Amino acid sequence: MSLTDLIYAGSNAVAGLTEGAVKEAIEKYGEGHPVLYPDTAYCLPIIYAATGVKIKTLGDLPAAVGILKSLITNKEDLGEALNAGLATAVGAEIIEALRYLDGDPYAQDSGIGFVPDPIIRSLGVPLVTGDIPGIAVLLGEASDPKELAAIVKDYQEKGLLTFMVGNIIEQAAGAGVKMGLDYRVIPLGHEVTSVIHVVSVAIRAALIFGGIEPGKLPEFLAYTKERVPAFVNTFGPIDEVVVSVGAGAIALGFPVIADVEVPEVPGALLTQADHAKTVETSLETRGIKIKVTKIDVPVSVSSAFEGERVRKDTMFAEFGGNKTAAWELVTTGDLATIEDHKITVVGPDIDDAMFDGVDVVRLPLGVLVEVAGKEMQSDFETVLERRIHYFMNYIEGAMHVGQRNTAWIRLTKEAFEKGFRLKHIGEVLYAKMRADFDTVVDKCQVTIYTKKEDVDKIYEERVKPIYAQRDDRMSALTDESVDEFYTCLLCQSFAPSHVCIVTPERLGLCGAVSWLDAKATKQLDPTGPNQPVVKGQAVDERLGIWTSVNEAVATNSQGAVEKVTLYSILEDPMTSCGCFECICGIMPEANGVIIVNREFPDASPVGMTFGELASMTGGGVQTPGFMGHGRQLIGSKKFMSAEGGLERIVWMPKELKDDVAERLNKAVKEMTGIENFADMVCDETIAIDSEAVLAFLEEKGHPALAMDPIM
Ligand code: SF4
Ligand code: NI
Ligand code: NI
Repeated sequence: MSLTDLIYAGSNAVAGLTEGAVKEAIEKYGEGHPVLYPDTAYCLPIIYAATGVKIKTLGDLPAAVGILKSLITNKEDLGEALNAGLATAVGAEIIEALRYLDGDPYAQDSGIGFVPDPIIRSLGVPLVTGDIPGIAVLLGEASDPKELAAIVKDYQEKGLLTFMVGNIIEQAAGAGVKMGLDYRVIPLGHEVTSVIHVVSVAIRAALIFGGIEPGKLPEFLAYTKERVPAFVNTFGPIDEVVVSVGAGAIALGFPVIADVEVPEVPGALLTQADHAKTVETSLETRGIKIKVTKIDVPVSVSSAFEGERVRKDTMFAEFGGNKTAAWELVTTGDLATIEDHKITVVGPDIDDAMFDGVDVVRLPLGVLVEVAGKEMQSDFETVLERRIHYFMNYIEGAMHVGQRNTAWIRLTKEAFEKGFRLKHIGEVLYAKMRADFDTVVDKCQVTIYTKKEDVDKIYEERVKPIYAQRDDRMSALTDESVDEFYTCLLCQSFAPSHVCIVTPERLGLCGAVSWLDAKATKQLDPTGPNQPVVKGQAVDERLGIWTSVNEAVATNSQGAVEKVTLYSILEDPMTSCGCFECICGIMPEANGVIIVNREFPDASPVGMTFGELASMTGGGVQTPGFMGHGRQLIGSKKFMSAEGGLERIVWMPKELKDDVAERLNKAVKEMTGIENFADMVCDETIAIDSEAVLAFLEEKGHPALAMDPIM
């Protein structure tokens, strides 16, 4: 059979299956029965993107099946055949959605099935920063599980996000691959149709970040091809259904690399029978370049291990976390006296004889990173210091929480057994500081202290005064006190018309870019994503309008957005790309706003979940009344100050409220004199229902109730 014949055979088979399944479902449940995926604002996302139609009930499906069948022309033409591959995608989306009719079909499966919107949003930042350099989709059953595992681990070490479908899931797990979102290896499911859940991720990226209008299929295909760096590896013999799935992938711009003979299509479909070369061939074909920093340590170091947790039962050693003192500091030293790559451990290491027979090794810890460089500025110290958290987490078998003197580190038994010792923490920090900050760090030395008297003494004498100095500097840093704001264009690789304006009191909506970060990035990468905007005279101080800001936004959004205010959510609010940590929206009856963070799964008092609220904005569009923002902004005196500011907040999920309470209380007290404002803010443990929320606000005498009408 020719390639096109194979594709059509697969597509027709899937079309038949889909039609049958839809009929059966309607007979069983009736046309009015709802059909939906969990936790998404986009219904059946692929159909929605391709046609603009939101499928809500089973009765909507026959029309979709009609469209699907019209995509299969059976013409002897590769372009037409690739469309048939898209038909297979639509069919798989319907079949999988029907599987959700009887509850979560993945409850008993090692795969996770449908990927909810909030997870996709959380991937935005690592994808734009290149922290996740690509997406690998693996499918089938491998002839040799060891070779398969080597491939997956290689992707993992390179930071890629890997999705798996089929028996390879058990094969890889059996061969010791660590799996889960925390390890960037995500098992989707065993049925071949579950591959659709990764296609759904790519399509929703276009909806969420790209702001592409549903119904414009060619624009979606262009988006996934240009902006979603995915590819497919198939393992073992492939049948016609897999071929037609592959055709769908190719239509999206994702090359398919098979390990068996296939009719090759240059750049799109090829054979690589040698598993030792699968990774290289795949990355090359998709044009993914990876920057590797060789670090001499006995475990893997990769951004893929960032989310890894170390639990009690696998823990070998622990530092900080209220059990012992622990701190970390990056400070600037003298170029003449800092000795590059000098790594010193002062005090006992984790293999010290004193720990023989001990359950868990616990030591105080002081991590002192001294850097020097001609271009180094003391303002960058905090930027580098915050990276310690990430660098330590990159270590396979290490977990890092907190910062400064709240640092908390755990190491696994596995890492210890592989030979990991404290000096290796120094090696990792050294290598990453040099690699990531090469234009400002010419020399770097790391000293690790583990004797209690050293850790305490150095903290009091050297570390604490520096923290205090920085805090003073930070609180003096206001929008008024600086001459320049910065643009951030990092998210443009996904959201082409989105521009963030980062100011001292308003960090980027992703929560990852502060004004100081932007300033340091400008120094590190002069033509990079952060460029200064010289403020000049404000047009309107209350709303936060500057001509210079409007010009920067208009130019950098290619005219898509002409003006933004920095302090209002009603008048020309700043746009969002989609990767915001929180979203706030107006709750008119409470005369205030609610805020929902990405992690909160339930509906808010305005009747919408985070995902639904988030879908109201994003993709670089302005939606008055809704605004994506970082957690940190809830504590900034500039938070929608044009509409009354922080006092307008009436509801937040409890976890978020607890997280921001201290800063929020401080800011509100300074502005209004109100004590413990966070206690007046309602949360889900008190009420979600609008009336009950209002009753609570009245009981507490919440200030928003007495303010001018918000709209
Ligand atoms: Fe994206 Fe804005 Fe964060 Fe920059 S500051 S990474 S543009 S969300
Ligand atoms: Ni880790
Ligand atoms: Ni973003």
